[in-house]
Amino acid sequence: MMEPREEGEIIKAAAENYYSKDFEWDQLRHEIENDPSLVHYLLPFPQNQHTLSSSEDSEAWNNFHTRHNSTGKFFKERRYLLKEFPELASCGECSTVLEVGCGNGSTALPILRGNKSISLYACDCSKEALERAKENIEAANIILAKERFYPFQCDFSVSGFPNWLVCTSCCESLSRKQNMRSLDAKSCSKQDFPDPPISTKNDSCIGGVDFVTLIFTLSAVPLHRMSRAIAECFSVLKPGGLLLFRDYGLYDMTMLRFEPEQRVGYREYMRSDGTRSYFFCLDSVRNLFCGTGFTELELEYCCVQSVNRRNGKIMRRVWIHGKFQKPHVYVGS
Ligand SMILES: C[S@@+](CC[C@H](N)C(=O)[O-])C[C@H]1O[C@@H](n2cnc3c(N)ncnc32)[C@H](O)[C@@H]1O
Repeated sequence: MMEPREEGEIIKAAAENYYSKDFEWDQLRHEIENDPSLVHYLLPFPQNQHTLSSSEDSEAWNNFHTRHNSTGKFFKERRYLLKEFPELASCGECSTVLEVGCGNGSTALPILRGNKSISLYACDCSKEALERAKENIEAANIILAKERFYPFQCDFSVSGFPNWLVCTSCCESLSRKQNMRSLDAKSCSKQDFPDPPISTKNDSCIGGVDFVTLIFTLSAVPLHRMSRAIAECFSVLKPGGLLLFRDYGLYDMTMLRFEPEQRVGYREYMRSDGTRSYFFCLDSVRNLFCGTGFTELELEYCCVQSVNRRNGKIMRRVWIHGKFQKPHVYVGS
């Protein structure tokens, strides 16, 4: 078997040639930051040297999904997801989720499978990814999955989300009633978003979602667009709603495999195919989310070390797990 890249694969690998155990992130940080050969990962980076246009970023992801089209299995179903975020299983009837950057459905699938009454809106900047996601959901044979899954294309870091998730008038009345910050609601004509799902056509909009999932998506967004992207997620959540976050952590094994010339920003790297990856420390996540108005509920590193039994090779994976809440009453500035 190949080396495990994602969490699900680590679990599978553990049962095969690898054994895994947790480790302390501070121990890894100490090693990296005191190794002179790794100093290029720590150096400051001159601003805005490698800024691609947003369409080039989306194009890179679309090409990525097209290349992996034949298997459609590049991202494995995240079977651990409901264990990490049990509220997705225990939430009330008719709860709604927005999965941002859904790829081929690795996160959408376990949510639809694990909770038969949830409706899931899923966006991606790549058309190709959405096609794969639709195919994978249809093939999964989950109860009423097709009727509960609403994919749509959008680059949330540039255009924001379609108006029908939270329309202007809902946003204004929520803002009045709940004393929420008015989050410059978008006009319908701003971008040609697809029509809302049939079930919502008679209503003015969905009225916001209960959960936003950002699972290995924010790291793909250029750092200078992240705050705006998170503010968009905040704007579509209902008051009290949760944002569930999982992404690459600082000094993850995959970061240490990037060559110095692949560095495009501080802790920001670009793969040869043009897709990018940022590596988060706890403070960077905290500042981004709390700076947008979220309340931090959970935030921690998840560190797993796997050792190949045959050759002794060690892999140290670092992920960040976070749970943030939109306040019930937001007193904006
Ligand atoms: C690493 S994949 C994660 C997919 C999925 N969330 C999962 O759990 O496996 C990142 C996804 O985000 C999408 N993406 C990247 N930038 C985006 C953006 N600005 N807006 C919407 N989707 C984006 C990519 O096309 C890709 O499918």
